[in-house]
Formats: sequence, structure tokens, C-alpha cells
Amino acid sequence: MEKTLQNIQKATAEEERMEGTVKNCPFRTKFHIMPPVGWLNDPNGLCQFRGIYHAYFQYSPLNVNGGGGYWGHCTSTDMLHWEYKEPVLTTDIPEDRSGVYSGSALIEDDRMYLFYTGNVKMPGDYDYIDNGRISTQILVESDDGQRMSEKVKLLGMEDYPEDITQHVRDPKVWKEGGKYYMVLGARARSRDENGKRRDKGGVLIYESEDKRNWKLYRELVPEKAFGYMWECPDIFSLKDKRVISYCPQGLETQNEKFQNIYQSGYSFLTQDADPEKTFREWDMGFDFYAPQSFEADDGRRIMIGWAGMPDTADTHRNLSVDNGWQHCLSIPCELEYRDGKIFRMPVREIYGLEWKEVSAENGKLQWNGKTMKLNVSGIGGEKTVIRLGNRENGMRITTEGNKAELSFFNENGFPSRCGGGRGKRSGRTEGRIEDILVLIDSSIVEIFLNGGETVFTTRIYLENNEREIDMSACKNYKIEII
Ligand code: FRU
Repeated sequence: MEKTLQNIQKATAEEERMEGTVKNCPFRTKFHIMPPVGWLNDPNGLCQFRGIYHAYFQYSPLNVNGGGGYWGHCTSTDMLHWEYKEPVLTTDIPEDRSGVYSGSALIEDDRMYLFYTGNVKMPGDYDYIDNGRISTQILVESDDGQRMSEKVKLLGMEDYPEDITQHVRDPKVWKEGGKYYMVLGARARSRDENGKRRDKGGVLIYESEDKRNWKLYRELVPEKAFGYMWECPDIFSLKDKRVISYCPQGLETQNEKFQNIYQSGYSFLTQDADPEKTFREWDMGFDFYAPQSFEADDGRRIMIGWAGMPDTADTHRNLSVDNGWQHCLSIPCELEYRDGKIFRMPVREIYGLEWKEVSAENGKLQWNGKTMKLNVSGIGGEKTVIRLGNRENGMRITTEGNKAELSFFNENGFPSRCGGGRGKRSGRTEGRIEDILVLIDSSIVEIFLNGGETVFTTRIYLENNEREIDMSACKNYKIEII
């Protein structure tokens, strides 16, 4: 307990010390969850509890470049305005001494249950795959979402199947037919036809009658490797479709597929579904990973992702680092199953904000407010170009036919400063592109094509006086700001 308090005090002291610097950063957003200071990654424990939305997140207040140590916490009544609370989990027992890793919330009988992975990396010369790592699944309970009970160990290394390496994490728990299920991301030991080590990503599903005693229910590892590790799995239903969302690592980039270092996407869970054929990426932009979903009280399936990506130091950076923080979460989105795929659109609460329509002279506008919503409609596949920033330093969104491209390359062919090293990403819709919704909240841009059939999420670092939009290559558009 004392260790917990000490850890929380360290975080709070750093938040206070850096408050001025962080607050003055031009890249702070209005409606997106950010770390109060330092680094943020995955959304965790998303839920609605006693009417209030709770979002927890992987949080490293003491190191802007990550390293973990905390679950940050914030609450909201509309999923857009967030109030930051003290961290709720810290590394304070031997089983989680190297990290309180990702996990999920289950609400039952007016009580919150949080499941997460305690990570241990033993000091020494280990590969941290087959040795040197301990992954423990842990439960805490809470009456208010803030104060947590004692940590209870649920599953340890002795409970995982033989062929699974030491990478087992990110419990997502749900209740179904009177039982509890927990899906975990895993890395299975495997060799290819030449006997060469080639691990396979997969998931383990455990079941329980009481949330405390768990036994293995299924091990889902594909026949043919689809990445060497799957992180942050999530299983849920949309209409009568059973969906598995997961983050495979180790897929090779192929043209418009798998353009980022790691991927996040989904498959429909059917018997012998081959991920190679069924996997569809959640997002085609530079910054989307480790999404998690939850069911709101009104039955909506909401998803929030980390608007970031691990291990990008060699390719791009986030310019807010100089102001002591980096990364944010995506806008919460509603998921809907239609025509064999999942559409993802911002929660309807965004329409309740006080948007003001503004007109753009010759299609150009300097937006002084931080947040902008742009709707382009009736496109019919015609070429449309939207530029944020200027020719020297900006990002272009180009759509034509059923193809969309996001490019930070400027007119001289160099990546623009505002992309921090980001280059180009492309994606498609099935039919031609008819409408585009662009949401710009300071340093994050989310682009929804054809009602959320294809989405691009990216960070952009334009200074306030560089926040221009050029719509001269667009026909029907509407710009609103807050
Ligand atoms: C995904 C991830 C998870 C892990 C967490 C640690 O980004 O690697 O698998 O639990 O981040 O912060």
C-alpha cells in the first residue's frame, strides 16, 4: 500500500511540475484523451459504470518515451470532455514489477472488476521470449473506479499451454451464458518447414464460473503463421456476428496492406477462419493501434484506439515530446456491422457539441479554433484534394475513385516538418468514394470515408499560425469549428 502511494505521489508531483509546459503546448487536444504528462499508450478498462464513462490508459508520467508503470484514469459523461484523475494501478507487487500492462473492465452487480497483466522482465541476459519474462493475469476490484482492492493473481506461467512462449497478456473479459471468458494475446513457439524458428501469434481463451478460478477453454493459433505475436485481443458481437479484434506483429508490408510496423484489425470468428483471408485493418493511417471496445449502457459498441504505434523511433516522431508529453487516444467510435464489414464513426455525442459553420474564401480557411469538422459529400469518385497546412509544410488527403491517399510530402518532395517523419499511407473503399468526414482536433486528424468504411488516423504537428485548410479541389463541403 505504501509503495502504491509513493508511486502515485511521484506521478502527481511530475504532473504538477510539468503542468505549465504541457498546458502551453500548441498540440494539446480538446476532445481526445492525452497523458497529463509523459507518455500514453493503450486504452485500458474502458467501461460505463454508474452512468459515467471510465477510460484507463497505459501511462508513463515519469518518462516521455514510455516504459510504463501506471494505469492513468479519466472519466467523462459524454466521451468527449474528460476529467483526469490520479493513476489507479502502479507497479507495487513482485508480479507486476516491470509493468502493469494492458487489460479490461467488467461491470457486474454495481462493482468494477479490472483484469490486467503483471509483467516481469528479470534483469540479465535473456531473450524475453522463452526466458526471463513472467506474465501474470491479475484482478482488482473497485466500488468507485478509483480506489482498488488488493491484487489477486489469477493465472501464471504454470497455467499456459506448453507451446506458448512467455508472451501472454492483455486480458479482455466478458460474461456470456452465466460464465466468464478471458481472451489473452499470445505468442506460440513454432518452426517452419525448414525447421527454422517461426513463432505464431494467437489467442488463449479461459473460462471461469466465479471470475477467480480460470481454466483453459480454447487455444486459437492459426495453421499458418499470421504474425509472430498478437497483442490486445478483443472478442465481441455485432448484430449476430462474432468479431475478434487483434493486433498482429510481424506482418510484411504489401502495397496498401500492413503499411505500419504493427497492425490492428479484425476477423469474423467462424470455424476454421484463416486470418490471412479474413483480416481487415481497423485503420489505414499512421497512428492507430491496440484498440479496445466496450458496450455502453444503451447497447452501443464503442471502440477507442491508441492514436500511436509502438517502436516508431526509426521512422517518425511526435513533436510534442519537446513539451514533455506524447500520444493520445483516438476519438471514441461506434461500431456497426453492415454489408459484411464493420463501419467505424465518431460517437454521436460529437454532433451535440456547439459547432459553428464557417465559410472558406476560395476554399481556403485559417482555422484559429482548435477543433474542426469537415464534411465533403456527393463526391461520386471524383478527384478531391484537401490540404492541411501549406505547400511547404502540410498534409494532403487525396481521394479518387475508390482510392484515398494521405501524404506529408511537400511540393519539393520532402516529408513536411508537421509529420515528424511520416510519409504516405493509402487505402480504399469497396465502391467509389462518396463522402469524407475529417475531424481535426489540434494535432490529431481522423478521416472517415463513406460513413466509416475506411478510416485514417494520423497525428499532425502544425503550429497555430500554420493551421490552414485548402479545399479548392473539393465541390460540396461544409466546415464547422469549435
Ligand atoms: C500494446 C502493448 C500491450 C501491453 C502494453 C504495455 O501496445 O504492448 O501488449 O500490454 O502495450 O504497455
